[in-house]
Amino acid sequence: MRKNIVAGNWKMNKTLQEGIEFVKELKEVLANDKTNCEVVVCTPFIHLASVSTILEVTNIGVGAENCANQVSGAYTGEVSATMVASTGAKYVILGHSERRAYYGETAEILKEKVELALANDLTPIFCIGEVLEEREANKQNEVVSGQLADSLFSLSAEDFSKVVLAYEPVWAIGTGKTATSDQAQEMHAFIRSIVAEKYGKEIADNTSILYGGSCNPSNAKELFSNPDVDGGLIGGASLKVADFKGVINGFNS
Ligand code: 13P
Repeated sequence: MRKNIVAGNWKMNKTLQEGIEFVKELKEVLANDKTNCEVVVCTPFIHLASVSTILEVTNIGVGAENCANQVSGAYTGEVSATMVASTGAKYVILGHSERRAYYGETAEILKEKVELALANDLTPIFCIGEVLEEREANKQNEVVSGQLADSLFSLSAEDFSKVVLAYEPVWAIGTGKTATSDQAQEMHAFIRSIVAEKYGKEIADNTSILYGGSCNPSNAKELFSNPDVDGGLIGGASLKVADFKGVINGFNS
C-alpha cells in the first residue's frame, strides 16, 4: 500500500545535544496528536543511535542521510548500511542532489548503495530531480527517467517495491522557490508512469513519491493534496519542531 510520508532531512545541522532535544520535543508534540502520515527523521550518522533509542516505542521512523557503497573494511570515514541498520534506523536517503553534486556520487555508486541498503532491510528514500538549466531546456522528464533507470531499474520488482522515491527539483532546494503544485503533480504523475512501464501499474500505484524543495508549513497542504504527491522530504523546515509539525499538518484536513 502506498504510504503518505513526511521525512525530515537535517543535512549537516545540529550537534548531538541539539538533535536529542529536537526528537524529545517532537515525540512529545506528536504523542498528543493524531498524524495522518508516517513521520521519519533522517539525521547525520552521529545522531542515529541516540535518536533511535529515544524514538524506539513511537511511530516516528529514523533514517540516515547516506551510507557507503562498500560492505565493510578499509574505507576510512565511511559508514556501511549494516552499521546504519545496527543503530535501529530503518531508512536511508540515497542519491540526494547534494551528494551527487559535491561528492561525485554517480548512478553506478548509487546503484551499489541502494542494493546494500536493501540487503540490510533499510528503506531507501531515493532522490531524483533536474537542475535549473535542465528544466529551462525542458529536459526534466529525460533527466528524471534516466536517474531512475540508471540506479534503480536493475532491481527486481520485489526490491523496487521497497523503495520510496523523492522528486527534488534541484532549483527548489533551499532556494525558497517551491515547485508549483501543478509542476509537482505533473512530474510525480510522469514518474509513476515510468515506474508503471517498467514494473507494472500495481507496483507504480503502491510506490510513495515524496516532493522535496522548499516545502514548508504554508505550501505543504496544497502540494500534498495532489493525487501523485505522497508526502515530502523536508530540509530547512525540518529543523524546528513547530515548522516540521506544520508540514506534517499538511495531511490533516
Ligand atoms: P529544503 O526543504 O531546505 O529546500 O531542502 C529540501 C531537501 O533537500 C530535502 O532533502
